[in-house]
Amino acid sequence: MANQAGLDTSMLEGVKDKIRRGLLPQWAFTDSEIFKAEVKNIFAKTWNFLGHESEIENPGDYVTRWIVHDPVLLLRDQNGQIQAYLNSCAHRGTKLCTADFGNKKTFTCPYHGWTFNLSGDLIGIIAGNKVYGEEMDRSQWSLRKIPKVESYQGMIFGSLDEHAEPLETFLGDMKWYFDIMLGRSDAGMEVRGVPQKWIINTNWKISADNFGGDPYHTAMSHRSTVELGISPKDPMYASYGHQIVLDNGHGINMVTALGGAKVPPYQGLPEDMWPMFARNLSAEQLKVFENTMIIVGNCFPNLSFVSPMHGTGGPDEPLTSFVNFRVWRPVSPTKIEVTSWFMVDKEAPEAFKEASYLSYIGSFGPSGTLEQDDAEIWTRVAEASQGEMAQDKDIHYNNVLNYLMGLDRVEPDESWPGPGVAYPTCYLDAISRAFYEHWVDQLLATTDIPANVL
Ligand code: FES
Ligand SMILES: [Fe+2]
Repeated sequence: MANQAGLDTSMLEGVKDKIRRGLLPQWAFTDSEIFKAEVKNIFAKTWNFLGHESEIENPGDYVTRWIVHDPVLLLRDQNGQIQAYLNSCAHRGTKLCTADFGNKKTFTCPYHGWTFNLSGDLIGIIAGNKVYGEEMDRSQWSLRKIPKVESYQGMIFGSLDEHAEPLETFLGDMKWYFDIMLGRSDAGMEVRGVPQKWIINTNWKISADNFGGDPYHTAMSHRSTVELGISPKDPMYASYGHQIVLDNGHGINMVTALGGAKVPPYQGLPEDMWPMFARNLSAEQLKVFENTMIIVGNCFPNLSFVSPMHGTGGPDEPLTSFVNFRVWRPVSPTKIEVTSWFMVDKEAPEAFKEASYLSYIGSFGPSGTLEQDDAEIWTRVAEASQGEMAQDKDIHYNNVLNYLMGLDRVEPDESWPGPGVAYPTCYLDAISRAFYEHWVDQLLATTDIPANVL
């Protein structure tokens, strides 16, 4: 039986059963039918991160973004309201704005010159009355709005589904952790510079799964940071702390210091800021934040984040924390476009902001050491997942991948003060299993899109 996205539901039920047993068929990464179904059943339904409010602070500020294959023009209008439009002219569909960011009062299409204001209204047509007369109702030809746009802690999300649940419902318990990263300061966060973009030849799930639930890879993939003395030699160093499975496929790792050793409180943020954190966070959030060294996770489906302490020098250089959000935009089954935002507390001293930015650039910027390590590995996973054997759905030999870590072995830590199911180690595949189970549930969900247009 096929679901309305054209996928065999009994096959998907079989996949779900395997995921629950810690096994993922390798073809799930790169299968083209799965990819098409993901676009329809996941990305066209869910909340997609578009940008941060600090990127469009003033009326007329705009940025251009994507929801998978839909170009989005995100801006602040004359009234200070955030608007998101399909970045496609209402006349013949030309991509209206090609710049990444800027400030404008109007947008004029390069094809025939139709002009739209910040409210999306069609306000100018070349030779308008001569060619269309006065009878054409211009209000019918406004820019098309992205159906839903909502923000949380300055993070703007859009959904193509007008029936999408409220953003805060979708984020669920992730909000508690977003508050620690994004809501700890009175004035919130700001994006410094413009977000950077680059391409990786991999599948979006491979990177989301890595950030969401794979601190285990750090000791090997990022061994160069150990050799430089930036990361500890202990191969378990990224395991200390908690891996927390959240609802809706989200997950987060709160990594503490080596074996519980003392780390600088609040990720080394300046002491002057601590009273502010106490004002904005609950006692439980404050305690968790105080003892955390690395925060890394994934907001389903493809918004990942990392807030580690990192350095630009050798063992004697101080480590500085930063906050980095990134979207893994699916371009094809084996290609993603990464957009990466560096964020810092607006009220942090300028010297900290600068050190924090350098720490980000050296580690997770486009040429950062850790970024290079990850991109190379993720490319290899995709490269080795496209052949006949990896794509074999008959499964007459073992073509499933191993997501067994901690399955039926590690019990939740009931004393964890935050929401979610928290396990007392970050070397665990619990988030990945929950991510893929949610993923397959979304693929199984019925869609109201008629089968004949798929
Ligand atoms: S396509 Fe934009 S004005 Fe014609
Ligand atoms: Fe990594």
